[in-house]
Amino acid sequence: MHDGMDLTVPFKPYLSQVERELVRQLGGETPPPNDTLLTAARHLCLGGGKRARPVLVKIFGDTLGVAEGKLVVPGVAAELIHAASLLHDDVVDAGMFRRGKPTVNARWGNIVAVMSGDLLLSGALLKLAELDARLTATALGTIAEMTRAAIAEVQARGNLELPLDELRGIGEGKTGSLFGWCGVAAATIAGDEDAARCFDAFGRRLGIAFQMADDIRDISGTDEGKPQYADLSSRTLSLPILLAVKKDPRLKRRINDAWAFSALTPEKVRELGTAVLVTGALDEAMALMNQEIDAAVEALGPYAKRPSGADLVMWARTIAHGIALQGAA
Ligand code: IPE
Ligand code: IPE
Ligand code: MG
Ligand code: MG
Repeated sequence: MHDGMDLTVPFKPYLSQVERELVRQLGGETPPPNDTLLTAARHLCLGGGKRARPVLVKIFGDTLGVAEGKLVVPGVAAELIHAASLLHDDVVDAGMFRRGKPTVNARWGNIVAVMSGDLLLSGALLKLAELDARLTATALGTIAEMTRAAIAEVQARGNLELPLDELRGIGEGKTGSLFGWCGVAAATIAGDEDAARCFDAFGRRLGIAFQMADDIRDISGTDEGKPQYADLSSRTLSLPILLAVKKDPRLKRRINDAWAFSALTPEKVRELGTAVLVTGALDEAMALMNQEIDAAVEALGPYAKRPSGADLVMWARTIAHGIALQGAA
């Protein structure tokens, strides 16, 4: 795993099945050589990524006693929907590195990236439709929510006045909705509507925390797979940036001025990133992230007390902290 930590050890047998099904979904062991969309999708999907969403499906399923075999297709679908969102997101953000490799848009261009993302989405939905039409319906709702959040983030770009609640809402749509779906999918298979509601609420809050962790590591430079300060460089708002400019109005003017220029040099980006760091915004962001995790656990209600529910709570805390702090001194 590229991230230097492995939270997936207890789930290895399940994840091997997910991996096999992912390969099958993406053209098998000997894929057609001239299929650009498949080649691009395999470049992103195979050999990289934490597989956080399949793991979530598995732990949610364990909490309700769902047999492992029934959780493979929803886990694969969640990973494919996530991968599609990354392909599209790297076009939107002009991201050049992902999972320690050049992005699909960097290697094959935006058109291939967008269309291979669409191919992954249709593949995921088809698999779900074969299993249970209710899963397709809820997944479609999630994809719509992710799409709306992605455009909301683009529209908020450069707006240092954005209320923190709106940023949270974007994080919920981008990441929380799919985390919640992982729980809804497991609960649908188990036929447990109460669990679907609790898991959705848990996943949404955890997704917000996870997005906050991702924002934190952009500024702390602790993601080995991506360059530091990519958010500052793409004029994308993040929690530490908004917290830093609230604390320091002069920094707000400096970032606003820098973002008004079309060419933002790497030196300028580094200078602003360092200025964000010295405000102490990262500590504040960590505190807010912890609040979201606590709220997630609260939302789990009675399920937190089940044996696998405790795993869910532990995994939730570890993954958010792990992501935020990895590689940090
Ligand atoms: C990255 O997600 C995008 C966000 C939701 C912040 P992950 O951190 O789960 O990315 P991979 O799948 O491990 O590459
Ligand atoms: C990734 O979002 C895509 C989704 C969560 C849908 P970001 O733009 O925040 O994540 P990175 O930093 O590129 O991985
Ligand atoms: Mg983005
Ligand atoms: Mg991005």
